[in-house]
Amino acid sequence: MDAPRKKYIIGNWKMNFTPGEASLYLNKLSTRIQPTRKVQVVLAPSIVSLQSLSLQVNRRQFKLATQNFYWRDYGAFTGEVALTQLRGFVGYAIIGHSERRYLFNETEKDIAQKVAAAIRNGITPVLCIGETALERKDGETSAAIYSQLTSGLHEVSKEDIDKVIIAYEPVWAISSNKNAKPATPIDIVEAEHFIRKHIAKLYGKEASEAISILYGGSVNKNTAAGYLEIEGIDGLLIGGASLIADQFCAIVEIAKGVKDERQY
Ligand code: PGA
Repeated sequence: MDAPRKKYIIGNWKMNFTPGEASLYLNKLSTRIQPTRKVQVVLAPSIVSLQSLSLQVNRRQFKLATQNFYWRDYGAFTGEVALTQLRGFVGYAIIGHSERRYLFNETEKDIAQKVAAAIRNGITPVLCIGETALERKDGETSAAIYSQLTSGLHEVSKEDIDKVIIAYEPVWAISSNKNAKPATPIDIVEAEHFIRKHIAKLYGKEASEAISILYGGSVNKNTAAGYLEIEGIDGLLIGGASLIADQFCAIVEIAKGVKDERQY
């Protein structure tokens, strides 16, 4: 029988924790979260902590992700960090997060280049897409998702699509935004279906069924089960709640308990 489909629980620590604090926090998580093949737990600390945490982490228990990088592999780019420099530390890279798109003006082209750089460097890109509150209000949710999906995957070939993870993160649901409210399962199912439909058009049905799609936006231990039980949702990208051990560990436990009947 096929192995059960994997769930991903990704903690995006954003710009929080000094390296010392990050190390203590990792230690705390590692005493409370037991490794399992069913749930891949990924931690995304700030870049400054990646090297030390990569020496500390038990890679059977947790993988590390970078929250950012520059897409070129080396060169005269003052202040930037390349994936060739991070490759030994991380297995995943968060790309296209709305905070990078809207606070740091990352363009669709930057994001496509980053996805390509991740694949080139053997790192799993977690491509974040999602509409803003205004786009939703104006009935442009599908158009926004479509545009971010197709442009983000612009450089990805048919052979490489199985290396990509998609995270649906409606911007209005992210806890750091004013008046944030979590998406409902109906919102998420709609987006998930839409994303798979377009992956099928671009890469074929098999790829669309196989690709992992996560949800992110104001997830906490009280809401995680409802999201993880949605057929077609393969995990969660968690910001605020990933900084609180009780919350994060509880969410991982919930993910371990969720049954997924899908065969692919
Ligand atoms: P949140 O953040 O869980 O705090 O809403 C999610 C994210 O920004 O990825």
